[in-house]
Parts: sequence; C-alpha cells; structure tokens
Amino acid sequence: MKPHLLTLLVTAALTGATAQMRAQTPIYLDVNQPIEKRVDDALSRMTTEEKVALLHAQSKFSSAGVKRLGIPEVWCSDGPMGIRDEVKWDEWEQAGWTSDSCVAFPSLTCLAATWNPDMAALYGKSIGEEALYRRKTVLLGPGVNICRTPLNGRTFEYMSEDPFLNSKLVVPYVKSVQQNGVAACVKHFALNNFEINRSSANVIVSDRALREIYLPAFHAAVTEGGAWAIMGSYNLYQKQHCCHNKTLLCDILKGEWKFDGVVISDWGGCHSTDEAVHNGLDLEFGTWTGGTTWGRSNSYENYFLARPYLEGIKSGKYTTAELDDKARRVLRLIFRTTMSGQAKWGSLCSDEHYAAARQIAGEGIVLLKNDRSILPIDASKKPKILVVGENAIKMMTIGGGSTSLKVQRELSPLDGLKNRFGADNVTYARGYVGDTVTSFDGIETGQKLADHRSAQELTDEAVQMAKNVDFVIFVGGMNKSGGQDCEGTDRKSLELPYNQNNVVSEILKVNQNLIFVNIAGSPVTMPWLGQVPAVLQAWYIGSEAGNAIADVLAGDVNPSGRLPFSFPAKLEDVGAHAVGEYVNKPSFKVVDVEYKEDILVGYRWLDTKKIKPLFAFGYGLSYTTFSYGKPSIDKTTMTADGSVTVKVDVTNTGKRAGAEVVQLYIADLKSSLPRPVKELKGFKKVQLNPGETKTVEFTIDSSALSFYNDTKKLWEAEPGAFEAIIGASATDIKGKVKFELK
Ligand code: BGC
Repeated sequence: MKPHLLTLLVTAALTGATAQMRAQTPIYLDVNQPIEKRVDDALSRMTTEEKVALLHAQSKFSSAGVKRLGIPEVWCSDGPMGIRDEVKWDEWEQAGWTSDSCVAFPSLTCLAATWNPDMAALYGKSIGEEALYRRKTVLLGPGVNICRTPLNGRTFEYMSEDPFLNSKLVVPYVKSVQQNGVAACVKHFALNNFEINRSSANVIVSDRALREIYLPAFHAAVTEGGAWAIMGSYNLYQKQHCCHNKTLLCDILKGEWKFDGVVISDWGGCHSTDEAVHNGLDLEFGTWTGGTTWGRSNSYENYFLARPYLEGIKSGKYTTAELDDKARRVLRLIFRTTMSGQAKWGSLCSDEHYAAARQIAGEGIVLLKNDRSILPIDASKKPKILVVGENAIKMMTIGGGSTSLKVQRELSPLDGLKNRFGADNVTYARGYVGDTVTSFDGIETGQKLADHRSAQELTDEAVQMAKNVDFVIFVGGMNKSGGQDCEGTDRKSLELPYNQNNVVSEILKVNQNLIFVNIAGSPVTMPWLGQVPAVLQAWYIGSEAGNAIADVLAGDVNPSGRLPFSFPAKLEDVGAHAVGEYVNKPSFKVVDVEYKEDILVGYRWLDTKKIKPLFAFGYGLSYTTFSYGKPSIDKTTMTADGSVTVKVDVTNTGKRAGAEVVQLYIADLKSSLPRPVKELKGFKKVQLNPGETKTVEFTIDSSALSFYNDTKKLWEAEPGAFEAIIGASATDIKGKVKFELK
C-alpha cells in the first residue's frame, strides 16, 4: 500500500524538525561528539570569569561548574581506601548525613602485599562504584609515593618501597576506577616521603633517583593507566612547591608524558598565583586565605587561582593561553566523567564490595613466622583462646588524617575471632591502653575505650588469663593516632608503642603459644621475635578486618601476602637514616632534605650494604611449602630491541592449596655507573594445588635492564652481562641465569 500524501508530509516535517533540533544541540552537550570538540565548543561559549571559576574550589571538596551552560560541579572525595563522609560546605566537620557510610577497603600497603594486579583491579572497580554511587567526579587516590623511611606517618596510605611493584598495581587500580566514569587522582606528585615539615621541606634528589625510584609509578599511572587527574604534593623540589613546579608538572608530566588531565593541588598546597599560572597547576583546593593550610575555613574568592588570577588577566599580567589550557583540562575531566553520557550509577555497601574487601585483605595479610606449624588453629578442636590487645577491639577506620572514614560496619578482630572459634571459647584481656580517642571530625565510633587501670594491672590480668588457654592471640601494633600511622605526623621510632613489648614478654613466661597479629601500616621491631612462634602482619584492613584475620588464623584462607617493604632490624639500617637526610625538627622556613642514599632505597640499600633485615622485601610464608626448579632462559644473548624469556618450575610440596609469589630480579653484573645489586623486574602469583607444578615465565626486554643516565638525560641499557635472579623474596634466592645484552 502506498503511503498517504499527508503521512509523507507529516513525516517530512517531523524529520526536518528533528534535524533542526539536532542542529540546535550544542556540540558540547552531544555525547556522540569527540571529547575535544565538546571541549572546544564549551570553551568558546564561556566568559573569562566562568573559566577562572572552574579552576579553584568553591567548598572543601567541590569546584564550580558553569551553571548557565549546564556544566556540573566537580566533586572530589578522599580517599584511596573508602569514600569519605560528606563534610560541611566550609568545614572539615562531617555534615551529618545518614546516607554517606561506606565500605572501608584495606589500606594500600595491604593491597601492595597481595602482589596481585587482579586484586588492584578488583579494588579499583569496587571503590570506583562506591565513588560513583556517592556522585563523586574524582577519587583522591591512589597514593603511590615510595616508602623511603618506615617513620613516614603516611606509609599505610602508599604501596611499597619498589617502583616496579607500585607501577604494576597502580595501573589496574586507576583503569578500574575510571571504568566507572570516576577520575582517579594519583597522589602525591612527587617526593612526598615524610610528613614532618611536609610543606616546607625542599627535597634534593638526583635526577637518577627521581627517575628510577620516585617517578615510575606516576609515569605508569599516566601513560599506561591513563589517569585523568594527578595531585601535586605539599613539599618542594628545586625550591618550588610541587603543586606548581615547572620541572615536575610542565616539563615531565605534561611535556614528556603528555598528560592531558587535571593537576589538582593538595589541600593548601598552592602558594603563589604566578607559579600556579605558569607552572602547571589546574585546580586549586584547600588554600587558606593566607595561603597556608591550617585554617579551618576558607575564603574561596581569595584563592590564588581566583580573584588574583582574574585581576591579573584583566590587567594584562597573564595571557589567556594558560587560562584556556587549564579550563580545557577541567572541561575534559567533566566530559570524561559526569558528562560522558554513559549512564552508570555505581553501588554502595554492596555484598560484592564487602566480599572484595575481605578477599583483598585475605590475600594481603602476611604470615611472617609460623614455628611448630602452630597456625592454622583448628577450630573443630574448640581450643580455648585468649585475645589480648587494644587493637582487637579498636575501630581502625577512624583517624589517620584524610583517610578517616565513616563506615557502615567494621568487624573487629575480637568479634571475627569469636564468630569463627565460638564466643564461649574466646576470652579477652586489654593488655595495654593505647589511645582511647574514638572520634574524628565529628564521627563517633560509639566505642568506650577508656580504661584507668595501671600498666601493671593490665599486664597482670593478661598474664593470669593466659595461663589457662591453648592459644594467646595478641592483637597489637599501632593505630591511626598522631605520631603513629597518621597523616601530618611521623613516627619517632620503629618500636611498638604502649608497653606492648613488655606485655608480650610477660605473657610468654606463662604461655608460649602466642600469636602476634600486627595491625600496622609500617614496619615495627619485634624484640621478642625469637620466643614468639607465629606473627601475622595484618595491616589496616577496614570493614572486614575481623573476618579476614579469622580466615587466615583458622586456615580458611591460606596466606599468600608478601611484604611490600623491608622490615629493618633497626632504623640505622635504612639508607634514608644511615646516610640520607631526614629532618625531624619542625620548621616553618624552607628546610633542605637531601636524599643522599640516592637510588638505594629499601632492599636496594640492604643488598648493597649487606645488611640483614628483620624481614625481607617480598617475604611471606604459607601454610604449604613450595619448591623451585632450576631457572632456564630461552637465549643467552639479547639484542637491544629483543627480549629474553626466563622460565622456572614451581611445585606445591605441601598438603594444602596455596599461592606463591615468584619474583624476578635483574642484576647488572658490570656497569659504568653504580647500580643496585638487583632490582625487581617481574613477579607472578601462582595458585598451586598440593603436588601441582606450574612453569612461571617472565619475558623482559631492555627496559628491564636500563638505568637513567643523568648526564645524557635518558634511559640506557648498557651492553654486557646480566643475571636473571629468581627469588621467593629479596633474600631467598632460588636460582640465577646469566645472559648478555649485545
Ligand atoms: C591530603 C590529601 C587529601 C586532601 C583532602 C590533604 O591533607 O594530603 O591526600 O586528599 O587532604 O582531604
């Protein structure tokens, strides 16, 4: 049947109207247009005032959009381990919402201890979904600064002492966060390796150490992970604050690495309009009116990139070229996230997120010692267990600075152990009193931790109760209070605080079946190690702490975590403290801190100086055992553009399924510059059933052999002899093969 003439006319009219409507849709709103075209179009419609308004905060965690054009605000949230509670517009104090509780994921040290990029991807996916549900544009994390000194109060927020390990984990984390349409903001760029004097310390470091140790994870996050945002750090480098640092931001990040995202200042990290304009800062947050960080309320119009910038443009002091570049970056961020047009909604506090938190924690807990195979504890035998220690009951998701969270739930180690071993079989003694503070910026845990008994009374009680049990599980370590694992402060020493060493020693006199569970984000010393049969490094693991610890202690999970940093036997065994500088006196004036240990950070220092650590980088036990075959190599000569493949057989020689982390280190046997004894260049976590053997393969190219040549200013692999070293840790070497680079 032929269409009626009227139908044809009506259809034609409607098609014309649709086309006209389409023509009228501004390009920047058309999600089918390429992002760069949308950015150009939006920019062309904006006034100078509107552009400037994009570049600085309007509240503690948000910056303005363009209301007139329907371009939304940018909302940031801490942090790398959970989505922070909403705070008041202009206060750090929580806003008091009832819908902003989150799941706390394990600290990034724990993630690093999984040595498993799949866990980093799961982490990024899960936290990204929480961020999206909470309508965040930018997740302020992950933190990838190198653990240079174990005293750094923020060690728990970072990953490891090794740039290769950090790089391999940050990439999947960033990608999976961003698949949610939420930007990851990798922090803190760069050289933010201690907290004391964090805003006044000028780091002096060689180009080589900068490139080989401190930048690789950022480089990977940008060039492989495609990070949409980077946060500048508080400290200075080349006497310029890192939030507006020409070398770091203009030359390296945006120049060499071609970063097209947004550089966000750390909160209060911006100190100068001139430098911010010219040296690469795009979005300013947290500045106090006076340009310092410690005011409780801000005056946003007076930000360095607010009125002073606008006035500078109007008076001709600044051109609009920098302004357009900065505004362009912020618009690009918005079109990549909130205005991407891909409708996703995320999820908050889902069963999947709790499961992810528990799985990551289970893979990250490190078994440091297990004499007499005292672990796992067989729950079916209904053993009597005494749990000792404040950390068995204290909520650890509160405190620590910007990572403090308001969680929907947090299961304590004590409750996790009671659930698993039966409440009737588990008793508790406090043992020591640490810090009884149970609130942070208005969030109350509701716990009552005050206990006014003397140290002697607390010890006596624990000793008395320890006499009549099969096992004592001492849950100690540190906490998130100032001077421990806490932003803004550093630790004073490596020692465990609060009389714990003494309590452990006293308990050992009456019961030697003591298992020490160390809840801490950084290394501690263990003077009683010789007498304690089992030690578990359990980090800060968030909402599922109790379950994850019980999973490992009961053997439901076979531990497969490996240390992401060396545990030194003493502070002087750390390069940064032996020869490097570490200034522990507060200073408001700029104070130089020279990284004299240069590239010898962590195991690189210990190897070179032949110092035995308490526990080595990459170390961790399992409830099963593994044996290694002899490593082989496919060819003994590698060309500059070629590669070699190293293979090694690994067998599970025990009775339980378990995972081994096979590590590949490379040694340059002869080089024109001093090099570390060996460097991590590959790792694989392999799951093996009892009796099973798998062949683990590593293919490396010349980038794994390269060092940064300061003089030539480039990466270089020198021809000559190399060794591929297979290890179960930095000190447990299983085999070596030589090869030559031609
Ligand atoms: C921290 C950042 C954090 C920001 C916002 C700063 O003090 O250094 O890591 O993202 O506060 O809370």
